[in-house]
Amino acid sequence: MMCILSLLAALCFVTGDRSTHNPNVVSVANFAIDFHNRMNNYPYAFKVVNIFSDSAQIYPPARVKYTLEVEAAQTVCRNQANVNLQDCPLQSDAETMICSFVVFAVPGNNTIPKRLLSDQCVSDGRGLF
Ligand SMILES: *[C@@H]1O[C@H](CO)[C@@H](O)[C@H](O)[C@H]1NC(C)=O
Repeated sequence: MMCILSLLAALCFVTGDRSTHNPNVVSVANFAIDFHNRMNNYPYAFKVVNIFSDSAQIYPPARVKYTLEVEAAQTVCRNQANVNLQDCPLQSDAETMICSFVVFAVPGNNTIPKRLLSDQCVSDGRGLF
């Protein structure tokens, strides 16, 4: 599924789900938002609620450059190291933002660190929830 307009984001959140994405893509998206949280002193951590688009470019032998566009929403969890985003519920009127991430990773190998090459998030100025 692909949703370009943030107007559609609420709909995508309801109908789209991340299980339709490759688990490597989900893992890369979670890594990127975690890094983004660490680099910003938001009071509350954001988590990925939607993956609008993803593409993968392979760099042999094993590295992959992922380019993602995701929607992230504010959780109730304090933005601190080692927060487990999976278990963090969203705020009831969560702020949301649209993020473009570029990440280098070796899929299926968590011992090789992922690298965030590009990290750009903009608030979409709406509370969707
Ligand atoms: C991950 O990469 C390291 C270093 O190249 C290698 O030693 C290890 O066997 C790899 N693990 C998996 C699960 O592929």
